[in-house]
Amino acid sequence: MGVEIKIDGLSKSFGKQLIWGDVSLTIPSGEVSVMLGPSGTGKSVFLKALIGLIKPEKGSILIEGTDIASCSEKDLYEIRKLFGVLFQDGAMFGSMNLFDNVAFPLREHTKKNESEIRNIVMEKMDLVGLLGAEDKLPGEISGGMRKRAGLARALVLDPEILLIDEPDSGLDPVRTSFINQLFIDLNAQIDATFLIVTHDINSTRTVPDNIGLLYHKHLAMFGPREMLLSSEEPVVRQFLNAQTVGPIGMSEEKDADELAAEGEIEMPPLPPIPMQLEPSSGIQRHRQREPGEWCRLNGITPPPGSFEGTNAGLAPGS
Ligand SMILES: Nc1ncnc2c1ncn2[C@@H]1O[C@H](COP(=O)(O)OP(=O)(O)O)[C@@H](O)[C@H]1O
Ligand SMILES: [Mg+2]
Repeated sequence: MGVEIKIDGLSKSFGKQLIWGDVSLTIPSGEVSVMLGPSGTGKSVFLKALIGLIKPEKGSILIEGTDIASCSEKDLYEIRKLFGVLFQDGAMFGSMNLFDNVAFPLREHTKKNESEIRNIVMEKMDLVGLLGAEDKLPGEISGGMRKRAGLARALVLDPEILLIDEPDSGLDPVRTSFINQLFIDLNAQIDATFLIVTHDINSTRTVPDNIGLLYHKHLAMFGPREMLLSSEEPVVRQFLNAQTVGPIGMSEEKDADELAAEGEIEMPPLPPIPMQLEPSSGIQRHRQREPGEWCRLNGITPPPGSFEGTNAGLAPGS
């Protein structure tokens, strides 16, 4: 379940400013993918392009045979029904309680009666751990709860694709861990395609099946988590390991002098690849890979100490 998103040669500019160009990747169905990148690299613009809120100048976004980048408004309206979206701030209506906020898409887009709506809303509130908070106003609850409520609302139309913009922004590390666990548990339960945009490296290292990195107006790399976490490619390596040594500078790219000065400094070794987060509910995810599977299949020896507690971190054949 969940549907695949096939993106080819996508470019977006605002006026003369290119945001990103020639972005090509396939976001696999039913898997959890993270799109990472420094602030201002166009991650939110990318999500908006995927739901047709922003029109790219070049390229295509194929979902079940429809090209979002060029289809008619009518087709777009239909295809949008596949999506659930959680925007950065949760985008709750401040004057409505959580129940009405979560019920909103059902009242707008379906002909369901109030008792059917109540059942669906309560089911989704339960899924995100907010049962009992239906009567609260968005202003009365914590940022973490608001994000959960936004998530419940994104789930009410049973999406095939869930787009989530910076779920961890403004959350403390513990709440971030809880919401990450919630994503993995939800993915196991609803089997939709998840695309999470973030600049949080800790979440990126443990949550997704796949990682993409937007950097300097292009997609530096997209692929399985283990591929990026074991990559020696300088930009990927620097960003995913939060290192100062590498081509990424304080503001943008380092200049030639800065890089030359660094030429002598050795890159710190790659840290171990952590285990991927597993569902807490006992429900198995269809897409959960064995730890070290990608490395093994591709003959890559993961950094020492990877996949602690399993045999998967050992070099092939040892
Ligand atoms: N509607 C718009 N019109 C003009 N420029 C925009 C618009 N939306 C975003 N931008 C610009 O696109 C760039 C990327 O923005 P954004 O996608 O929000 O970055 P990120 O989410 O990665 O932090 C920024 O420079 C921003 O100013
Ligand atoms: Mg953003």
